[in-house]
Amino acid sequence: MPHTDTVLGAPAERLEGRQKVTGAARYAAEHPQPGRAHAWPVPAAVVRGRVTEVDSSAARALPGVLAVLTPGDAPRVAEPEDATLAVLQDPRVPHRGWCVALVVAETLETARAAAHLVRVRYDSEPYDIELSADHPRAYEPEEANAGLPGRVEHGDPEGAFAAAATRVDVAYRVPPLHNHPMEPHATTARWDDDRLTVYTSSQGGTTARAVLAQMFELPEDKVTVVSEHVGGGFGSKGTPRPDLILAAMAALRTARPVTLAYPRRQLPTTVGHRAPTLHRLRLGADPDGRLTALVHEVTTQTSRVKEFVEQAAVPARVMYATPNLRTLHRVVALDVPSPSWMRAPGESPGMYALESAMDELAEALGMDPVRLRIRNEPEHEPGTGMPFSSRHLVQCLREGARRFGWEDRDPRPGTRREGPWLLGTGVAAATYPASAVPATATARALPDGTFEVRINATDIGTGARTVLAQIAADTLATTLDRVRIEIGHSDLPPAWLAGGSTGTASWGWAVHDACADLAARLAAEEGPLPPDGLEAHADTAGRADAEVPYARHAFGAHFAEVAVDTVTGETRVRRLLGVFAAGHILNSRTARSQFTGAMIMGLGMALTEGSTLDPAFGDFPECDLASYHVPANADVPAVEAHWIDEDDTHLNPMGSKGVGEIGIVGTAAAIGNAVHHATGVRCRELPLTPDRIL
Ligand code: MOS
Repeated sequence: MPHTDTVLGAPAERLEGRQKVTGAARYAAEHPQPGRAHAWPVPAAVVRGRVTEVDSSAARALPGVLAVLTPGDAPRVAEPEDATLAVLQDPRVPHRGWCVALVVAETLETARAAAHLVRVRYDSEPYDIELSADHPRAYEPEEANAGLPGRVEHGDPEGAFAAAATRVDVAYRVPPLHNHPMEPHATTARWDDDRLTVYTSSQGGTTARAVLAQMFELPEDKVTVVSEHVGGGFGSKGTPRPDLILAAMAALRTARPVTLAYPRRQLPTTVGHRAPTLHRLRLGADPDGRLTALVHEVTTQTSRVKEFVEQAAVPARVMYATPNLRTLHRVVALDVPSPSWMRAPGESPGMYALESAMDELAEALGMDPVRLRIRNEPEHEPGTGMPFSSRHLVQCLREGARRFGWEDRDPRPGTRREGPWLLGTGVAAATYPASAVPATATARALPDGTFEVRINATDIGTGARTVLAQIAADTLATTLDRVRIEIGHSDLPPAWLAGGSTGTASWGWAVHDACADLAARLAAEEGPLPPDGLEAHADTAGRADAEVPYARHAFGAHFAEVAVDTVTGETRVRRLLGVFAAGHILNSRTARSQFTGAMIMGLGMALTEGSTLDPAFGDFPECDLASYHVPANADVPAVEAHWIDEDDTHLNPMGSKGVGEIGIVGTAAAIGNAVHHATGVRCRELPLTPDRIL
């Protein structure tokens, strides 16, 4: 058997790349179904209240309209665990944009036209959509997201802060942010008697199947979920969204296959957003720059539908040594669309605030901001006291400073000028948890010398399929072209979703174990393989989720150079350079793409992304890509990602940490710090639009 020891870590190209660029890859809305109809949702036009009447007569009179589902007559489903999925079950309107009717028609165009003919009457109620740090209904939840404690505190943070030689007491604000994957949320659903098949754009089909089975009261083996190709998610497809339920309802009602591809303008109210966060940071330091107190208090919002607490104070429990620490969350339920997961939930807004405040502290101390961070490097994880499984933040900072040319920096703001431009540089650190969840996989050796690996993993554009094939090839000591990998189908061995930067670690662990077992059995096998080959199965339950006495996180450092136009206030990023320590990098091409893609998303967060909640309408006016500005090519001239290869034996058999999210953590702070260095202006509210800079 040909052996290659270079397959893991190699810059293997995406296995499905050709299919994608030639249009052969099928996304959820594209699976051909004979007799397929299309659905278009009708969003609520009031902020809070009840639907009193849905008059669909004009819509139904339109030729080609098959049905109009309303809260009064839509199929009843079992109550979901996630209340955002309880669509068309009752007349209540918990926020503007909530689905109040669904039109099904022969064509997409007819469905859309008919949706505008549906007349909905409401009883409107007073509403409250305004987040403030002193909101009277704000409360401190026991837990923030991901089961993390709402508050972690030790020592005497108030007293230590009051007594500190140097103090920074600042407030930062991050606006609502939206995931906006290129492929909107979409589902094609088909019933064959009591069997349901869906093609859905999801980060995890295993969850989608469980939710459908529960809500439509079917055994799981009567539900098939296909998510073969997914055009991005960034967290917004981590849990099922209303398209999954509505498409299945519409297919049930019309006895036709139905596709519901969410119109982009309805995504912000329907698929979650990064909740706005208000931060208060208090940093106290001794004259040497050692933190004596660190207080990070976050106020955020959730909806009336469910509690979602953006865990933005959490990274302050990981980053810096301090004897006196307080991190806490407050949340208020407003009449707003439900927030949800968005790339690096918690860490991304939290590290914007913390790393900006660290820059302010460095300035107050007259100390270099790289040196300040190194000075506060902890021996143990501050929040838990646990040792780190590996932590190379200092190396990332040093390597980044070297590559970026930080040494020659004049720390005084506003000293570099180029015509109308003021130039500046900034630095910020990054961190993201490294974890894994249980998964199952099979590996089969075939008599022709090839292998088949099966796991219900999802590739949302990251290269998951490819890296799993690399892990298999590496473990089987074969070449990539001899491995056939199947993912994205619920007939495959179950696995958890692509989220929390856990995908490769979790799925790869199961793939590794199945392949290792198969390799051992092949070595023991005498004679030719049976015609259907030899198969091994792995289940990592009890191992991937085992408690370990280590704090496991990836770390990184961002360096940014900006030019700020003194006439217009426009900020241009000239250079972004990130250095990451994320365990072993398993595919240098796709990992680099994850790092740089996330850094670019962080650049958008810094400069252009963000939405408002219109007080008159209770909705996001910035609901499409014309009004919600994500970076374009011209905005990202030089983005570099580098890494320090780590040997961490406390992770998984591959020694990898996730790379999907850390790139967006701290990026906005590095850019904001560079803007301050360029101009002397400290903006504490994102995005850094010209009106805020001038
Ligand atoms: Mo990511 S926000 O954990 O899908």
